[in-house]
Amino acid sequence: MLVVFFSRPGENFNVGVVDEGSTAKLARIVAEESGAASVRIVPDRAYPAGYDEAKSLIQHELEAQARPGIALRAVSPDGLDAERAVAAAGRIALGYPIWCGSLPMPVRTFLDGHDLRGKTILPFCTNEGSGLARTMDELRGALPGCDVRDGLPVLGSAVQSDPDALRPLVARWLASADADGVSAG
Ligand SMILES: Cc1cc2nc3c(=O)[nH]c(=O)nc-3n(C[C@H](O)[C@H](O)[C@H](O)COP(=O)(O)O)c2cc1C
Repeated sequence: MLVVFFSRPGENFNVGVVDEGSTAKLARIVAEESGAASVRIVPDRAYPAGYDEAKSLIQHELEAQARPGIALRAVSPDGLDAERAVAAAGRIALGYPIWCGSLPMPVRTFLDGHDLRGKTILPFCTNEGSGLARTMDELRGALPGCDVRDGLPVLGSAVQSDPDALRPLVARWLASADADGVSAG
């Protein structure tokens, strides 16, 4: 399995200003609990750190259905070729924050730009109350050739305050994907 995630450091509600976004912290736990390598979706232009500035840009991108430029950057292990890892993965745990009830546009760019047909997708998100919102429908709509499994929603504020407390939840979610008969890959 491979973990692919997008996350925005900076100001967010309920957590203040954070150096490392909540989805990035959760992605580390998913990678550690599964033993998977991990890849980050990095937007060509970083989102503003301030919440209000970020929100107006994000709302504009959502209305325009923008596809901002991205790069994939390996997080772990050292030396991983991110693009090859995506191509080779049988299943991908895909992590993102909920933005205005939707997938962040950089995640849409990732989905559009990669041939993920035949892969199993395990979505996980951080949010502040909306759960997975519209994102399961968006993912299933964008990925007709994929087996999109049940997503895992986690409060970003919970990740920031005590990430280790989430390990049992993450382990159960991963085990339920295995119990569904998914082979590792
Ligand atoms: C512009 C913007 C819109 C957001 N919209 C929602 C939302 O609709 N529902 C929700 O529960 N949280 C929403 N959030 C909160 C984020 O989903 C939450 O803070 C998440 O943990 C951020 O993850 P990150 O630190 O990895 O970016 C929004 C945050 C931002 C910046």
